[in-house]
Amino acid sequence: MLCNLGSIVTYASAAVAAFAGLAMAEIAPAVSYNNTLVYQRADPQVLKHTDGWYYFTGSVPAYDKVVLRRSQTIQGLSDAEEVTVWDRAKSTAGVGYVWAPELHWIGDKWYIYFALGRRSEFDIRMFVIEGEGENPLTAAWTEKPFIGTDYDTFSLDATTFEADGVRYLCWAQADPRYDNGAGTSLFLAKMDSPWTIVRPTTVVSRPALAWERIGHFVNEGAYVIQRNGRIFMTYSASATDHNYAVGLLTAPQGADLTDASVWTKAQQPVLKSNERTSQYGPGHNSFTLSEDGLSDLIVYHARQYKDIVGEPLYNPDRHARVQKLYWREDGTPDFGIPVPDGLTPVRLRAFGCGRSYLKHNENAAATLEGGVPVELTQFRIVEAGDNVRLEATSFPGRFLSVAEDASLRLVAEPGADADFVQAAGLADEAGVSFESAGRPGEFIHAESGVVVVKALASDKDNQGATFYTE
Ligand SMILES: *[C@@H]1O[C@H](CO)[C@@H](O)[C@H](O)[C@H]1NC(C)=O
Repeated sequence: MLCNLGSIVTYASAAVAAFAGLAMAEIAPAVSYNNTLVYQRADPQVLKHTDGWYYFTGSVPAYDKVVLRRSQTIQGLSDAEEVTVWDRAKSTAGVGYVWAPELHWIGDKWYIYFALGRRSEFDIRMFVIEGEGENPLTAAWTEKPFIGTDYDTFSLDATTFEADGVRYLCWAQADPRYDNGAGTSLFLAKMDSPWTIVRPTTVVSRPALAWERIGHFVNEGAYVIQRNGRIFMTYSASATDHNYAVGLLTAPQGADLTDASVWTKAQQPVLKSNERTSQYGPGHNSFTLSEDGLSDLIVYHARQYKDIVGEPLYNPDRHARVQKLYWREDGTPDFGIPVPDGLTPVRLRAFGCGRSYLKHNENAAATLEGGVPVELTQFRIVEAGDNVRLEATSFPGRFLSVAEDASLRLVAEPGADADFVQAAGLADEAGVSFESAGRPGEFIHAESGVVVVKALASDKDNQGATFYTE
């Protein structure tokens, strides 16, 4: 037996896996993107529309306009031409900051929600523009009124989604009943038009946990993804420096989401700064789908250095990034860590071993395991001449290398023992196999959780040496 798991599911492809009862999102093939995606665009949103285009918007460093770009691939957004669809200088609606635009297609029109300083820079309220036309870059845009809420206070970061046929608005707002109106809570309401909500409104999350109250008391930047019978709402907390982090709220599908008691809040952030990958203050994310429609992706901003001179608001270096969102067997999302710049990593799932993956254990031998944090199973496949190396995502600059005892451990100075010849999977061409360059004829092989390089002598050995990239 190759695997030491309780129940073994043998499958070779997405189709077979779906047949075996595994949800698509759980076994989606690898994606490949090159970060950073878009420089100096914070609060990034990527929307995959039914017309096949990806649309991108985000805050510009001058906070004075709403921009859009589009591409038929996500990577293409990096250098797609950007157009200004709303310019504060050409409007009488407001004079202050323009923050966090979000594009939505509702009915048969486009809407962009953004925060706008009404009478002064920080007199921030939620504003809406409506666009007519298939392509929002060239649509005719008209201004709608500011969105009225229960209190005339600082309010921003509107997002909208439909759940069980009901359209909701979620936003961040200073609540006079909490912290004396300092900071922002997350509010939710049903909508009766794309620019009006049903009152009274509900508070679904307050900045009550220590990690939500660093620098400022903040819950903001919500976005929703609906999977596995649940509504997952991410939001961001604390000041927009390296303390900024992503939190998660969950509600069951079918619930009245304006009943605050249906929401469960994760007590720890689900995505936060990572010193080793040099990504700081990840947050204000959105979700989209890969080009093949199989992988969920998180799009967020982060800085690549920790210390900011001056007020974070005026630092332009929040760059938009994209990475794969993984799902655990229990149907909850595993955000992992903000991955390093450059090509996105993959995980290596073993042939015939259900959901178990090659896992590095730093200086101890690599293993094959399921149910472990995704970042311990992520590797970047790096070209090294004609060979490849497997770089640990949670230890950039360290590579799996064959040790004396044929096990695989991370090393910082890779030699021939860290070089592998990558080829089609020996037991299934849809997979991959890795032959050691330092020990020709020996392949990375997993059996009963144990990972070694060894010579292969049977079909069963070939299976043990076959992996799928996810
Ligand atoms: C990724 O992007 C960087 C910066 O634009 C570029 O230098 C690098 O060559 C790209 N890598 C790949 C594999 O495309």
